[in-house]
Amino acid sequence: MQLAAASGQPSPSRLGTRVERLPLARYTTIGVGGEAEIWFVETLEALAEAVEQPYRILGGGSNLVIDDSGVPERVIRLSGPLAKADLTPDPELSDPASGLIVTGWVGGGTPLPGLLRKLQALGWSNLEGTVGIPGQVGGSVWMNAGTRFGEMFDGLHTIEIVTPQGVRQVTPDDLNWGYRNSDIPRGHIISRVRLKLQQSTPEAVRERMEQADAARKGQPKMKTPGCAFKNPGGVSAGLLIDRAGLKGEQIGQARIAPEHGNFIVNLGGATAADVLGLLRLVRGRLAPELSGPLELEYEIWPEEAAADLR
Ligand code: EPU
Repeated sequence: MQLAAASGQPSPSRLGTRVERLPLARYTTIGVGGEAEIWFVETLEALAEAVEQPYRILGGGSNLVIDDSGVPERVIRLSGPLAKADLTPDPELSDPASGLIVTGWVGGGTPLPGLLRKLQALGWSNLEGTVGIPGQVGGSVWMNAGTRFGEMFDGLHTIEIVTPQGVRQVTPDDLNWGYRNSDIPRGHIISRVRLKLQQSTPEAVRERMEQADAARKGQPKMKTPGCAFKNPGGVSAGLLIDRAGLKGEQIGQARIAPEHGNFIVNLGGATAADVLGLLRLVRGRLAPELSGPLELEYEIWPEEAAADLR
């Protein structure tokens, strides 16, 4: 297999998939990252073509730091039908008597916030604890994104996974999932999922969303990938960083948020190097008081840019 050319014209798709060379910074919430060839993939067939060469899958970019030099692989962005949700209850899998709803297919590229608004309006419960997560469905499932009020695996029935070896469907019971971890290997693409929801009322779902939302009130509103580190042993990493006096530390244009120690924010014009510098600073300072190294919640592209942080 050959890597896509690092510059110049994008390689064309046989199936007419839109391919463009673009700065990745615009696809990440922290707003850093160099260029790559992006494949805007709309169907399973197009996805099968896209994974014929070395690739990376780009979700909502909300938990991702991309190196300033970009990545040489093609970057897949699920679009069109693979970024839409069919919420029609599946008659074979749903059970109106008990209020169980299993939806049609929800594309991995579907933005999570809009999906949650629709579920709230329908009064369908199970995923409202994930409110406030800015990502897409695929990435959120891959990392089992969540808050203290709930996580993605609270509402999943089937997960469809695409790799160069083909397409397969699994259920949560097939996976050894846990806190911020789906057990799905890196690089496996979550193309679509079916949601497993419980009939409730719009009011009850809204109330629980508001509760979960209230817990985020103190979080920074600036460009950020969200929490940098997983909570070690259930203790808030933000609290530990705060206690170590690291809030407000700055490298270049990246800063540890004064509002919450586990957030790094881009003050405007930050580079990946600035962000990685802060991650190393925090890990180094907290090392003496922890039994193991703090584990990153972010993905870093390419992995070699921060091998020491894994
Ligand atoms: N705290 C401090 N200083 C700080 C940060 C926190 O004193 O700088 C204290 C808070 O006052 C609170 C406690 O630590 O008493 C816990 O803080 P918080 O409620 O913010 O929870 P967290 O464990 O730091 C987790 C998730 C967040 C999620 C919140 C709210 C992780 C790594 N973080 O944070 O998720 O929004 O709960 O549900 O699990 C994310 O995953 O990207 C993320 C932001």
